[in-house]
Amino acid sequence: MRLNWSDVTPKNMWLNRRQLMAGGAALLATPALARIEAAKSAYSTDEEPNSLEDITSYNNFYEFGTGKGDPAEYAGGLTVDPWSITIDGLVDKPGTYDLADVMKDQPLEERIYRFRCVEAWSMVVPWIGFQLSGLLDRVGVQPSAKFVAFETLVRPEEMPGVASPFIEWPYREGLRLDEAMHPLTILATGLYGEPMPKQNGAPIRLVVPWKYGFKSIKSIVRISLTDKMPPTTWNMLQPSEYGFYSNVNPTVDHPRWSQASERRIGTGLFGGRQDTLMFNGYEAEVAPLYAGQDLAVDF
Ligand code: MTE
Repeated sequence: MRLNWSDVTPKNMWLNRRQLMAGGAALLATPALARIEAAKSAYSTDEEPNSLEDITSYNNFYEFGTGKGDPAEYAGGLTVDPWSITIDGLVDKPGTYDLADVMKDQPLEERIYRFRCVEAWSMVVPWIGFQLSGLLDRVGVQPSAKFVAFETLVRPEEMPGVASPFIEWPYREGLRLDEAMHPLTILATGLYGEPMPKQNGAPIRLVVPWKYGFKSIKSIVRISLTDKMPPTTWNMLQPSEYGFYSNVNPTVDHPRWSQASERRIGTGLFGGRQDTLMFNGYEAEVAPLYAGQDLAVDF
């Protein structure tokens, strides 16, 4: 059973989830709602999500500027329909796919994830998305592939920030194949039960909840399977500060600040500081991926 936007009015979906939590199973109106509820219990945190206002007004999306308010101010002009993604490299079915084809038959779920930025702030976000593994399985990953590389759109006429040479555009990110195939790794197409706001990476972005937020690349137009560790934006800019893995790790500080604690956005300027958890709280699920690696070296 796949959730379509047409199955349910998005706002009602969120409302109904709240009602479900308060009222129990009697309020299960449609199978689509049950589907979301089931997914949440498997992978979601019980923590209270940040408000839609917090999530859509305090952003990093350098294509629209470096200020936290710039994406909300300038991303409105981004054209997200039509949208296609080129999938190439070591795959059986390379091609340029319409977003609808990318999403076809991939079960959408609500995943309430902790989101920890390298700048030592955090949020809790109710994403809507599907597992990246489902898409990779469909295009057929060849046995020689070891990494997945991602690129964001570059469209200067709609993205005022790309005039700055500070980053070598396109913004790019990468994962090891086993990280990309992990069930926690999703391509998100919405949040709070609605299509993805532009400032959060419409129409489709990566979310890897055990890694610092910059790994979660927005507005993806290319996914390439490779046999070599791909170059990534922050690692290219400052390799001593931003490693390829960038797993959330309170015991490995950023050279210029501590990573031991974080400020939860929306909890007030003076409260809301909390200890950062190993792998952002997803240690039980993902620690086995790094067995035998020294995480101070592979940071
Ligand atoms: N993706 C692109 N294309 N450009 C960016 O500047 N910023 C990253 C990441 N993905 C960024 C990006 C950083 S630093 C963070 S913390 C998150 O997006 C922020 O996601 P949010 O605005 O949805 O909270």
